[in-house]
Amino acid sequence: MINIGLLGLGTVGSGVLEILDSRREELKNITGHDINIRKILVKDLNKKRPIKIKPGILTDNFNDILEDKDISIIVEATGDLEKGYDYIRKSLKEGKNVVTANKAVVSRHFEELTELAEKEGLAFLYEASVGGGIPLLKSLKEQLALNEITEVKGILNGTCNYILTEMERGLDYFEALRIAQRKGFAELDPTDDVEGLDTRRKLRILGTLALGSTILEEDIVLRGIRSIKAIDIEYINKMNCSIKLIGEIKSYEEGYTAIVEPMIVNKNSPFYSVYYEKNAVLLKGDKVGDLIFYGNGAGKLPTANAILTDVIDIIMGLSKTESPVGTNKLENINISLKGKYYLRISKVSKNIYSIMESIAKEILCEKENIVIMTKSMLLNDILKLLKVLEIKEEEYFLARKEC
Ligand code: HSE
Repeated sequence: MINIGLLGLGTVGSGVLEILDSRREELKNITGHDINIRKILVKDLNKKRPIKIKPGILTDNFNDILEDKDISIIVEATGDLEKGYDYIRKSLKEGKNVVTANKAVVSRHFEELTELAEKEGLAFLYEASVGGGIPLLKSLKEQLALNEITEVKGILNGTCNYILTEMERGLDYFEALRIAQRKGFAELDPTDDVEGLDTRRKLRILGTLALGSTILEEDIVLRGIRSIKAIDIEYINKMNCSIKLIGEIKSYEEGYTAIVEPMIVNKNSPFYSVYYEKNAVLLKGDKVGDLIFYGNGAGKLPTANAILTDVIDIIMGLSKTESPVGTNKLENINISLKGKYYLRISKVSKNIYSIMESIAKEILCEKENIVIMTKSMLLNDILKLLKVLEIKEEEYFLARKEC
């Protein structure tokens, strides 16, 4: 029997229980073992829960799990940065394999935790931290043996994609966000979703693996979707295009660029028809060419499913203990980020108008909002102009046209 210590019984933790319960026989047939949740760490022992739990397995003391010698795998699903990090570190030091869905922890402590796992000769797996249920990281690690990856690009946040899809269908931003929260897609603090922090964490993990060079959160330019308005959707739809929040890392001879930003995609883009909580990720390899991964990027069962694929790999001895973080030292050249941009400013003055006119390839509206498509420009130059004109973040929306 394989005993698991489950940390957290929220959306993801209860999904893990649900799948284990419904697939007990199949899991035994494949792995050759009964998989048993031996203890579950919760904050409140007396909380009423909508799922059946074996009596006596809940605890509010992490040490009960840490000190249990029969537990060989920890599934960390707390969603908490500080506690999650502490639990994972202690578990690895105590000789337990770890599976986590906690992208905040993986992103912040990636190098340290992968090195610790290597030193201890244990598995540290985090498939559920990027792309929800999509089997992405495992495939990426496999491709890395054969390919130089030159680009990673994708829709990595289900909540933002849900909001943007609903807005394109006429719903108000806040109503769409409320539904995404009710469906269990959003983070505890949905600011992490709409401001792009969650996408940035996932891109940091993906990019570090793909380029074999540590790329930190602060190496990635960040612009979210918080200031988008119905009028932006209207203009973008008139162009026969769709708007997505996209994370993109590209490597060049001189270095790499890394950015999370709203992007306008046309019908030929692989991202155009990615709706609601779906995620999609494009990898470019020098041998395999383009690979596109698509699936449920958020939600209870897809995320729990990803966790359990990691658990299966550990039980079947398929997980490596060596750190997958490479030793390349690439230069960050975000300063060279450029493109043609959609820009809407909800503040009109003669001065603003004449400056916008000077950078516009096309003026779409000049009444209560100024809306333009810019010429091809450096992102930094546009941001500098907005600063000089004292236009606050909530007064404009800026999105790059994909091509
Ligand atoms: N809040 C995240 C999302 C959950 O919306 O994608 C899955 O990582």
